[in-house]
Amino acid sequence: MGIGGTLVDLSVMTWDMVIALANLFTAKLAPNQVVPRGCPGHRGSWPEYIAPKPSDSRSACPMLNAMANHGILPRDGKNITFPELNHKVRQTFNFAASFCFFVPNFSARFLNKSYASDRFDLADLSLHAENAIEHDASLTRQDAALVPDQGKPDLQLVHDLLEEATGKTSDGATLLTKSDLSRALSKRRADARKTNPHYSESFFHNMFGAANSSTMLTIFGGRVEDLKPMLEEERFADHWQPRVLDRYGLTMAKFNGTVLPVERGVDVKKYQ
Ligand code: HEM
Ligand SMILES: *[C@@H]1O[C@H](CO)[C@@H](O)[C@H](O)[C@H]1NC(C)=O
Ligand SMILES: *[C@@H]1O[C@H](CO)[C@@H](O)[C@H](O)[C@H]1NC(C)=O
Ligand SMILES: *[C@@H]1O[C@H](CO)[C@@H](O)[C@H](O)[C@H]1NC(C)=O
Ligand SMILES: *[C@@H]1O[C@H](CO)[C@@H](O)[C@H](O)[C@H]1NC(C)=O
Ligand SMILES: *[C@@H]1O[C@H](CO)[C@@H](O)[C@H](O)[C@H]1NC(C)=O
Repeated sequence: MGIGGTLVDLSVMTWDMVIALANLFTAKLAPNQVVPRGCPGHRGSWPEYIAPKPSDSRSACPMLNAMANHGILPRDGKNITFPELNHKVRQTFNFAASFCFFVPNFSARFLNKSYASDRFDLADLSLHAENAIEHDASLTRQDAALVPDQGKPDLQLVHDLLEEATGKTSDGATLLTKSDLSRALSKRRADARKTNPHYSESFFHNMFGAANSSTMLTIFGGRVEDLKPMLEEERFADHWQPRVLDRYGLTMAKFNGTVLPVERGVDVKKYQ
């Protein structure tokens, strides 16, 4: 990625640490304040959901697709700027500004585009390459070698994932826990190794896979009732609000506290 990329990454990590500290010393947001006033989804009021048309562009990311399905990103999923992605993800999910800059900037890099001046379509993000994001053994997509269109969820995989949920809240809601997610990832990796002759995995892709799925535990609090419409239809549950209440959003530093235990709990051998 070159010296330039490394320097940017180091500054983003430092910035992220500063935000993490600021979160420690400031009051939490009230649930109704998390999506700011004037932004789509404020107080759980999301713009209309319209399922994508065949000509619309969609990615391997359920949450970005949902933003397009509700018109927070362009409904056709096309001609999006990287800063627009950054700001919309910040407003919608309460990820920290560091994270919201880092992922689109990283995406511009692997697409050989300029973060500041170029545009992309959602489907571009599903590029399957060693230095890109899309990877095998995803929880809601069959591998790209088996199903080239990564823009739609595989309903059987989503069903299998949500079946793993064993947690319960005091009010009786079903929760996906860290160990449920580790078990689901273990089974998917074991299964992908068996069924996909082109299967590949790397430390880097495994960590990102664990990070991507850990958003279901943090931003969604593991709540199956909210994850079901999000993963099956790529739709926000009625009245949904992000579960992270940190004033300056979920930092990468704090997120690591979920991602690392999830990845450490993966045991593929058990299911081979
Ligand atoms: C900031 C811009 C973002 C980009 C560029 C991005 C990109 C991606 C890509 C390319 C994948 C596919 C990886 C794979 O092969 O499984 C993915 C998966 C995923 N992303 Fe995102 N994403 C972004 C933001 C988010 C946010 C804000 C959330 C949650 C609130 C999220 C949650 C997920 C989840 C749960 C998956 C895993 C789906 C699966 O395993 O099938 N992403 N993302
Ligand atoms: C993308 O958006 C820009 C700015 O609105 C516009 O100038 C350009 O023509 C659009 N490109 C396509 C392919 O629609
Ligand atoms: C980006 O450029 C590199 C180096 O020239 C090349 O190997 C890679 O295929 C390009 N990627 C895309 C998405 O164009
Ligand atoms: C990422 O952001 C940095 C800092 O703004 C910028 O210098 C760099 O060009 C961006 N990367 C890409 C690929 O545009
Ligand atoms: C998803 O994975 C990509 C790289 O594979 C990473 O850049 C991005 O931060 C991850 N997204 C989330 C929400 O963790
Ligand atoms: C999170 O953990 C990964 C893997 O150990 C590490 O590369 C990254 O720098 C950590 N990020 C932060 C912000 O602590």
